[in-house]
Amino acid sequence: MDNEKSTIKPADLRGILNYVPRFLGQTFMISLDGSIVENPNLPNILLDIAVLRSLQINVVIVHGIGTQLKSLSQSRSIPISNADGSGVTDEPTLDLAIRASSRVSHQILEGLTQSGLKCAITNSIRAKPIGILKGVDYQRSGAVELIDASFLQHLIDKNIIPIIQPIGYDRNGHTLRINSDALAVEVAIALKATKILYLAETSGLLVDGTLKRQLPVEELKSLLETDISDSIERSLKQKATHALRGVMSDISRIHILDGRIHDGLISEVFSNEGVGTLIYGNEYARIRKARKDEVAQLYHLIRSSIDKEELASRDMESIENSIDSFYVYEIDGNLIGCVAIIEYPEKTDTIEISSLYVHPLYQRQGIGLKLVNFACHTGFESGAETVLALSTQSFEFFESVCGFEVSNVESLPESRKDSYKDNGRQSKILSKKLESEN
Ligand SMILES: CC(C)(COP(=O)(O)OP(=O)(O)OC[C@H]1O[C@@H](n2cnc3c(N)ncnc32)[C@H](O)[C@@H]1OP(=O)(O)O)[C@@H](O)C(=O)NCCC(=O)NCCS
Repeated sequence: MDNEKSTIKPADLRGILNYVPRFLGQTFMISLDGSIVENPNLPNILLDIAVLRSLQINVVIVHGIGTQLKSLSQSRSIPISNADGSGVTDEPTLDLAIRASSRVSHQILEGLTQSGLKCAITNSIRAKPIGILKGVDYQRSGAVELIDASFLQHLIDKNIIPIIQPIGYDRNGHTLRINSDALAVEVAIALKATKILYLAETSGLLVDGTLKRQLPVEELKSLLETDISDSIERSLKQKATHALRGVMSDISRIHILDGRIHDGLISEVFSNEGVGTLIYGNEYARIRKARKDEVAQLYHLIRSSIDKEELASRDMESIENSIDSFYVYEIDGNLIGCVAIIEYPEKTDTIEISSLYVHPLYQRQGIGLKLVNFACHTGFESGAETVLALSTQSFEFFESVCGFEVSNVESLPESRKDSYKDNGRQSKILSKKLESEN
């Protein structure tokens, strides 16, 4: 394993900066296996976390203790009932787990402090005993009952990185051991994190020894359901099972990657190829093509915005004529947002985002960005390289939230130049290069 060589070149900085608007203000859950905390690469991981923080990405850390628990057990000649918190935890194992947790949390705290970051070890997890399953008493093993998300969020808002141990406390304050992979998912759900990054001693999710690079959630689901031949090693299968729950609960991207690789974390987050396994869900599930019978609904949805000149003027007939280019965002059967994707026959490498609208009651929940990302994704899939947006009042949204850059009339396809001059709106022209997502 090459721990020394950096894979990031100075020129990659520009590539990294492209991702900044997409991740700005989001929360990433970083789950460190106990073995990775022992690895010489830990200081580099903590530096990578400092880079994420400098880009205004919020970070929460959950850690495991399996490796440390095993070595404590050996050095003290105290047998343990289970190392990873998924089996039975008897009293002596719990005692060692508490010691191992304190040690590991401290190591992370020390490393983050050396990287100039503020952090805090928290007791934000209320747990309940797993109890008796199939006649086996799991004793001091617990599952998450409640997460004090507002406490964690308060720390995050104060630029403090919460460090969460694989330990919880029941209603009476008694300690229970929790599996860290499961804990990472529960905390990520509670904090509405957009990513979980599992850092482990593996190049990613290996199926029959072969690394899976990208895995749609449906494929992972059927893989886990049909894996009777144990093609996935036990601890990885456990991670994958928890990842499945995470993706099904709206965490759109979960990564399993090698914590031993220098720059692995940064390369995974800021490159299209990544270095480990990316498990992804369909974050566009609520977006679909508009139907022909929805012309009137669409017109009424966007009319107030047309009146305020936020959107270019459109009547029912023009929506009807271009209904095939419209996509809608639907919640409980109601249309609450839309976007149109305009293609240009004379310039097939370019698309335009038009008629972007989100109902005021639903604004500032990330739906506008999702509609723009969806349009970019659809354009990229159909071979476009550039996306344009013309805006009179929302150019800052495109620039600061969606990562567009100010462009000029020369970037418009010929037919669009004419309508741009004719309509007199003097919209600002914005553009963005399209690339696959990570
Ligand atoms: C622009 C619009 C689609 C954004 O939808 P949204 O669902 O609120 O967007 P998101 O939740 O993804 O992003 C919200 C962020 O964008 C910012 N934003 C929204 N509209 C903005 C604008 N006109 N100028 C600057 N920033 C804007 C918000 O302040 C918010 O920032 P914050 O997260 O730092 O608080 C919505 O405001 C809208 O429908 N506006 C009227 C129609 C319009 O102008 N469409 C664009 C025509 S090209």
